[in-house]
Amino acid sequence: PSGTTFDFAVIPGDGIGPEVIAEARRILQAVLDSASVEATWTEYSLGASHWKDTGETLSEETLERLRGHDAILFGAVGADPQDTRVPSGLIERELLLKLRFSLDHSINLRPARTYPGTATPLAGDPEIDFVVVREGTEGPYVGNGGTIRRGTAHELATEVSLNTAHGVRRVVADAFARAERRRGRLTLVHKHNVLTHAGDLWRRTVEAAAAEHPAVSWDYMHVDAATIHMVQDPGRFDVIVTDNLFGDILTDLAAAVTGGIGLAASGSINAEGTAPSMFEPVHGSAPDIAGQQIADPTAAVLSGALMLQHLGLTEAASRLEQAVHAQLAAWAEEPEGSRGLSTAQRGEAILSRLG
Ligand code: NAI
Ligand code: MG
Repeated sequence: PSGTTFDFAVIPGDGIGPEVIAEARRILQAVLDSASVEATWTEYSLGASHWKDTGETLSEETLERLRGHDAILFGAVGADPQDTRVPSGLIERELLLKLRFSLDHSINLRPARTYPGTATPLAGDPEIDFVVVREGTEGPYVGNGGTIRRGTAHELATEVSLNTAHGVRRVVADAFARAERRRGRLTLVHKHNVLTHAGDLWRRTVEAAAAEHPAVSWDYMHVDAATIHMVQDPGRFDVIVTDNLFGDILTDLAAAVTGGIGLAASGSINAEGTAPSMFEPVHGSAPDIAGQQIADPTAAVLSGALMLQHLGLTEAASRLEQAVHAQLAAWAEEPEGSRGLSTAQRGEAILSRLG
């Protein structure tokens, strides 16, 4: 809608983060320009380098400023594991997880799809197009546990999985709405034969939502069976809804079967719109290739498309996706493909497909 100005926060982060975000941002700007959508971009310096320079992981003040934006475009954060100056887990806990929990990113969205020319590790290179809707703020990841008698033969450790009716309902509602806009199929993945209490809550919640979405057909799969189907017959999936832990594992498997960390995009969504959602490539800061302009910016660009879609800029989002598809298809036709192209050259090529 013209007249609206979107106010974006950008967190380029560490390593290849700034390299891929630079491409995503100029491509997004071009798409928005041609749709006559005004946008402002505010860049935030955060991550391992920023911590080394300033001692800040994520201050309350920065968090409050981030809250004011319409959405956050995020690159990747994290130090080189060889860099012993950055304590292990510091950036994950005090920046990434803090962002997700503080901004109530209850839905972790991971599309898993193949693109023209992508080689999957699966026989016959099947076409894959499904999305995993993973719960993002509950389950065993809430830190509800403890240890006693640590280091003794009688050590006891617990990690309690937390599932609330509210938390499950909002992620299930989102998954059904997505299934309705897609191919109308939803799969609940859990392990309710063993995790009977949480499994029961998830199942009843899905049953109740199904009654309200008659156009969506749904089935249930144990998580172990889901790993088999994801490898043997991934085409059967449309929307998968699952808890935080199962979703963490399944989305990595999904990225592996679709063949390419350089293409995997994600969204961390605030379901109620009470704080900005965040969009980021699945990959990390890739210290092994950082600063060389050889990172693939496609996952960051596709994350930008998810951001546009989330903000209701549906047409701009699909224009952007189509440009990416067209360019990937063009590279697939060429003997060398995108090999040898710099990060910026890849961005330039996608940009040129916008017409
Ligand atoms: P990584 O995803 O950064 O790299 C894994 C491998 O994939 C590397 O060989 C890398 O060169 C390659 N790769 C990644 N993205 C690529 C791209 N766009 N184009 C071409 N090749 C690409 O994972 P790794 O090495 O385990 O972690 C490195 C750092 O990133 C760590 O500090 C880790 O904590 C952090 N990390 C941050 C994430 C985030 O910000 N959400 C997610 C995952 C890791
Ligand atoms: Mg993971």
